[in-house]
Amino acid sequence: MEKNSKQLYSTYTSLMQKAADLNYASAVLGWDLEVYMPPKGAEARARQLATLATQAHEILTSNELGRLLEELSASDLDDTEKNNVRLSREDYEKNKKLPSSFVDELSRQTSECFNAWVEARKKNDFGIFAPSLSKMIALKRKQAELYGYSAHPYDALLDEYEKGATVALLDPIFSGIRQQLPPILEQIKDAKQVDNSFFYQHFPKQKQWDFSIDVLKGMGFDFEAGRQDYSEHPFTTSFAATDVRVTTRVDEHNYQSMLWSCIHEGGHGLYEQGLPEDQYGLPLGSPASLGIHESQSRFWENCIGRGLDFWKFFYPKLQMLFPEQLAKVTAEDFFKAANKVDPSLIRTEADEVTYHFHVMIRYEIEKELILGTLDPMDLPAKWKEMYNKYLGVSAADDKTGVLQDVHWSHGSFGYFPTYTLGSFYAAQFYAQAQKDIDGLLPKVANGELTGLLHWLREKVHVHGRRYTSEELCTQITGKGLDPAYFLDYVKDKYRAVYGVNS
Ligand code: CO
Repeated sequence: MEKNSKQLYSTYTSLMQKAADLNYASAVLGWDLEVYMPPKGAEARARQLATLATQAHEILTSNELGRLLEELSASDLDDTEKNNVRLSREDYEKNKKLPSSFVDELSRQTSECFNAWVEARKKNDFGIFAPSLSKMIALKRKQAELYGYSAHPYDALLDEYEKGATVALLDPIFSGIRQQLPPILEQIKDAKQVDNSFFYQHFPKQKQWDFSIDVLKGMGFDFEAGRQDYSEHPFTTSFAATDVRVTTRVDEHNYQSMLWSCIHEGGHGLYEQGLPEDQYGLPLGSPASLGIHESQSRFWENCIGRGLDFWKFFYPKLQMLFPEQLAKVTAEDFFKAANKVDPSLIRTEADEVTYHFHVMIRYEIEKELILGTLDPMDLPAKWKEMYNKYLGVSAADDKTGVLQDVHWSHGSFGYFPTYTLGSFYAAQFYAQAQKDIDGLLPKVANGELTGLLHWLREKVHVHGRRYTSEELCTQITGKGLDPAYFLDYVKDKYRAVYGVNS
C-alpha cells in the first residue's frame, strides 16, 4: 500500500513536471519575443506558443491526472505531498469547469479584443474597442457563472488572480482609500513642493545599465541563476528558480524610468529565485499569488528602494557615476524627489499615494461591468467623472484615459486589485521585518541587505503556494491584511518628504 502511494505520487510528479517543461519552454519563447525576436518572427512564434500551450493544457486536464489526484487524495502522504496534491486537485477541478468550447471562444475573443484595443488606441477612439469589449464582458460573466460563486460574480474572477480574494475583503480596503488618502493628498498639495527636475537631465545608457546591475547585485539577485536584458516594457519571467529573467528599459532623459522598474523587477526576480528548487513544476514550487508577487516587488521598490536609508549607501556611488548631473543634489534631495506626489492621468506613472485611486477606480468600474449595472458604452464618461472626482484630473482623450491599460482587452477582470493588495501586504510585511530584524534600517544604510533577503526567503519565498495570501499574511504578521499598516507607512513617508503631519 505504501509502495503504491509512492508510485502514484511519482507518476503525478512526472506528469506535472512534463506540463511545467512545456510551460517554461513557452516562457523562454515569450521572453525572446519581447527581448530579441525580429518582427517577421511573430507569426511562427504565435503558432509555436499555441502548440506548447495546448499540449500543457491537455496534460493538466487529462483524465489520467484526474484519476491520479483522486487516488492520491485518499493515500498516505507526507505534508508536502499532501499540499501539492490538494492544490493540484483544486486547479484540476477548476480547469474542468470550463468546457473546451468556452476556452476556445474566450481565446478567440481575446485576440479580437486585443487587436481592437490596439486599433482604438492608434485612432484614439474608444468606439472602435467598445463592441469587442462588450462581447468580452459577456464572456467573463459567463465564466463567473461556470466557476460559480456565493456572493458576487466578480469574486469568481478575482479568485483566478488572488485565491480567496472577494468583494467582501476588498470593499473595505478601497473605501478606506477613498476616506483616508484624500486628506493626506490635500496636505501635500498645500506643502512646499518637491523638485525632481534633475531626473530629466541626460543620463547615458551604459552608465544607467551599470548602476542597475550593481543595485541588483546589492539586493542579492543571483546572476548565476538569472540575467537582466532590455525590453520595451519591463517584466520578470522564470524558466526555473535557477533561471530567472528580469528586463528593463532606459530613457536617457528620464532616469526614473529605469531606476524604479529595475528595483521593482528585481523584487519579483528574487521571489522566483527563492522558490524551492526541489518542487519544480509543483504547486509548492510556484508563487503564492499575484498579490504576494507584487508585494515582493513593491517591498523592494517602495519600502526599501524609495527609502532614505537605501540611498545613504547607494547615493554616493550614483553620484560618482553621474558627477555633473548630481553635483548639486544631496541624498536627502534625491530621496524627496523619488517620492514626489503628483496626481496624474496615467496609472503606471503614478506615485505611491495617487496610485491606489487609479486602482480603486478600475475596481469599482469592473464590479459594475460584471454585474451588468454599467453599460460598456458609458465607460469613457464614467472614467472622466471618477478621475475628476478622486484625482482632480481630466483626460483630454481616450488614449490617456479609458484606453490606457491592456488588461481589459486580455479579459483580465479582477487583476487590478492585486496591485493594491501588493502594496498593502508589502507595507504590513515591512512593519514586521522592522520588528523581526534587529537594526534593519541601519543595516540597509550600510548596504547590508542579506539579512532582509533571508527574512523574505524564510517568511514568504520558501512556501510557494502552500498558503493563500491571507494565510501567509497571518502567519507572518499575526493577522490578516490590515490597511492601517499602509496608511501609517504613507504618513511616515510623507512626513519626511513634505513635512506634513496627519
Ligand atoms: Co510588478
